[in-house]
Amino acid sequence: MFWVPRRSPGDWGQTQSVLVKSTIISTPGSKVLASALHSPITAVFAATLDRPKRSLPHDLVAAINDLKRDLNAVILAHYYQEPGIQDIADYIGDSLGLSQQAAQTNADVIVFAGVHFMAETAKILNPHKQVLLPDLEAGCSLADSCPADAFAAFKAQYPDHLVISYINCTAEIKALSDIICTSSNAVKVVRQIPADRPIIFAPDRNLGRYVIQETGREMVLWNGSCMVHETFSERKLIDLKIRHPEAEIIAHPECEPPLLRHAEFVGSTTALLNYIQRSDHASFIVATEPGILHQMQKAEPTKTFIPAPPQANCACNECPHMRLNTLEKLYQCMKDRSPEIVMDEAVRSAALKPMQRMLEMS
Ligand code: 13P
Ligand code: SF4
Repeated sequence: MFWVPRRSPGDWGQTQSVLVKSTIISTPGSKVLASALHSPITAVFAATLDRPKRSLPHDLVAAINDLKRDLNAVILAHYYQEPGIQDIADYIGDSLGLSQQAAQTNADVIVFAGVHFMAETAKILNPHKQVLLPDLEAGCSLADSCPADAFAAFKAQYPDHLVISYINCTAEIKALSDIICTSSNAVKVVRQIPADRPIIFAPDRNLGRYVIQETGREMVLWNGSCMVHETFSERKLIDLKIRHPEAEIIAHPECEPPLLRHAEFVGSTTALLNYIQRSDHASFIVATEPGILHQMQKAEPTKTFIPAPPQANCACNECPHMRLNTLEKLYQCMKDRSPEIVMDEAVRSAALKPMQRMLEMS
């Protein structure tokens, strides 16, 4: 049991913290948010420090539900969002599930509690709906690791290659791709490509290497990675396993190969959540962003979930981009109907084709 600092609902835009009780076992990295403020990967939080105070309704959850009804809105949330956002969402899922929900929704407004590429994907699928993102600064290090001009030059070196891109990329990269995949269907998608067709896989080299290992298929990899999944320490993971020999190690394929070698199960966030429910084990060391632990704890309240430790003594296994969204900003974006995702139509329609291919192949 440990105490996690949380921002107070009445003070959004400030860094004042209140203490919230959790039953998740602590690791050195999950104890003190203050030290995380000195970490380069959490520097992105600094962007929230200067925002002016806004007056907020006393009951934020009720106010969000009222706005949801008034706007005919649906709230889609990724598992890496803070627990309060997960609890108010209409749908919580991994990137594939969220895309499928976005493709099917009858709502007029999609409120995307996730990062920019996810909201952008919802807009690609729904050009006539309004797509709101609580914080437009919520980016993704993996998407940032693949700029469109550099990727176009890279692709030009392999003119006969099919381009399969992980959904964690910008709309411009999607527009340069033949098929999109997510962490839950990457192996399935690659297995459907004729054996004689060479493949470029972008932007995540770790997911790419995992797919090569699972399919035996050679692929040319773009050298991108996720800052969160690369922070896990193999040495500390081994130490943790020695202290908890009964716990199964489960990991997301965005982790580096040395980490994945220790995992008894590898999968997307939804696959990890499903796995802990069917496994006979009572405890798990979880190597992915710890937001997923909220749903794991809800699904299996008697089981124990231990976040895999990061290299440094900080909270840097929390995604600083995902965590920019707060319940307060969710309310405010619905009230203001802003920030909104706006896209160039030529890019959007070019990005739609590989998205549709993925949805057909999933
Ligand atoms: P999934 O949603 O496919 O599990 O991927 C996790 C992730 O890093 C999303 O940014
Ligand atoms: Fe991007 Fe990694 Fe954060 Fe997912 S966890 S949004 S891949 S930086």
